[in-house]
Amino acid sequence: MMTTNYLVIGSGIAGLTFSVKIAEKFPDRTITIITKASEDESNTKYAQGGVAVVLNAKKDSFKKHIKDTLIAGDGLCDASVVEMVVKEGPKRLEELMAWGTNFDFDTSGNLDLGKEGGHSEYRVVHHKDITGAEIERALLTRVHQLQNITILPHHFAIDLITNHHLTHKKPNKDACYGAYVLDQKTETIFTIKADSTLLASGGIGWVYGHTTNPVIATGDGIAMAYRAKAKILDMEFVQFHPTALFHADGKSSFLISEAVRGFGAYLRNKAGERFMPNYDERAELASRDIVSQSIDNELKKTGDTHVFLDCTHLDMMAFKKHFPNIYKKCKKHNINIETDWIPVVPASHYLCGGIDVDKDGKTSVPNLFACGECTRTGLHGANRLASNSLLEALVYAHNIFKYLSKANNESIDLNIPNWNDEGTSNPKEYVLIQHNLRQLQALMRDYVGIVRSNSRLTKAITHLDLIYNEVEDFYKASKISTSLCELRNMINVAHLIINQSLDRKENKGGYFNVDNVKNSETSIKNRSFT
Ligand code: FAD
Ligand code: SIN
Repeated sequence: MMTTNYLVIGSGIAGLTFSVKIAEKFPDRTITIITKASEDESNTKYAQGGVAVVLNAKKDSFKKHIKDTLIAGDGLCDASVVEMVVKEGPKRLEELMAWGTNFDFDTSGNLDLGKEGGHSEYRVVHHKDITGAEIERALLTRVHQLQNITILPHHFAIDLITNHHLTHKKPNKDACYGAYVLDQKTETIFTIKADSTLLASGGIGWVYGHTTNPVIATGDGIAMAYRAKAKILDMEFVQFHPTALFHADGKSSFLISEAVRGFGAYLRNKAGERFMPNYDERAELASRDIVSQSIDNELKKTGDTHVFLDCTHLDMMAFKKHFPNIYKKCKKHNINIETDWIPVVPASHYLCGGIDVDKDGKTSVPNLFACGECTRTGLHGANRLASNSLLEALVYAHNIFKYLSKANNESIDLNIPNWNDEGTSNPKEYVLIQHNLRQLQALMRDYVGIVRSNSRLTKAITHLDLIYNEVEDFYKASKISTSLCELRNMINVAHLIINQSLDRKENKGGYFNVDNVKNSETSIKNRSFT
């Protein structure tokens, strides 16, 4: 068994920012970060557009950023959270820059500000089109300079430890005491006991398969928190990014940043028509829920598999400077942005809901905190405004740090039993994991996609129960493996998405159910969804 003051699960922007802050302030306290792949693998690493922050006082204001966030969230944001996050933005950005993160500057020496869907002003700071990779690099560099942080790559959190796991001397009130962890290299399971545990485990994109997220995004933290009886909310609000590069095989979904539309690119259907003005007066720069639903509608009307992003009218010198990675990636796929339209299709991108936390990042389970994409803070409501996610992670990492700096950090004396895998054996049927994963992803894409219906959601539950039963039987008989745990977690997450979808009776933001149309005010015209 290992003991630590703070166990951090995840090494994206949320986990690393919290770890750096608490380690700098308390050199005598220990921080252990576990992360299931290499230390930089995360959704953070792939972030393109940037961080939304109000910096241009002449044109922009907190009031405008707050208003844009509330409009995008379609009436379901917590206004006090929105105000707190937006106002904290500039200070948190300054800190990130002090740790060595490089952002682009314009010719006047000011931070270069981009624009994305739903933003009324230019306010997105960025590092070319690889902002996330630069943030991840800078944070990891700082982490390695701090002696009291131990980072354990290729370590997978299996489950949080709560009273349920204790065999004797259970405290009266349930709480989190750390986690059971699989060392993926040695295939051994050990206990990490912690005074406080932070879930910073990111998103769920792989539940859909067709996603902009890397393969680590399997919703483990949300599933673990759910099993530990934490409150999970707003799971129906899965955000689909409008413009993932289209591939006939539907597998790799490289993101074409929304900042490209902010730079002036047009969406066109196969007939060449610029269709977005038919749906929203902000056209290509409407919020992402509206753009994705409009593309979905266009595809349903025509039977096409994708639409196009047209950049051919843009200043190519400037484009290549802002978006060198996108330019290169398209070239690799034989798409010359200067002359060709980019084929694009919406893909699962971000989860607006998750583990419910208060402004200090506290979950409903004592000693368990959560930060970043795995949480539901109230900032995003029914649909996240572009580039508000990195900002949210920075602000909440700071809030949790502040709360824990003042909290009583007494260690609890507990006897935690070792992980019990009695009666299990090495699994012989790995095909079962792959088969059920494919079934789960197809189910979520076909029945729980951009446009839902009660009958498809009900069918999805029936199918999911079959997958669940088969996987649970396999799990009970098998030694733990990462792929089996991830599949189990994705099934938990899918259940939450489907059940919470069925509970929502009004269409809001990223949630659209054809059976709710009569109860809803919708900003999209000309809908003929099925
Ligand atoms: P992540 O960065 O995903 O980190 C999660 C970590 O948890 C990973 O290290 C993972 O390995 C680890 N982990 C997960 N499960 C376990 C487990 N069981 N055991 C151990 N470790 C585990 N947002 C913006 O604001 N601006 C943007 O420009 C932007 N662009 C984006 C572009 C792309 C392609 C994508 C995919 C997302 C983008 N987003 C953007 C969203 C944003 O990047 C993410 O929401 C944010 O980075 C999430 O940070 P995080 O720290 O919460 O999670
Ligand atoms: C993008 O660059 O389009 C992604 C921005 C985001 O998800 O916030």
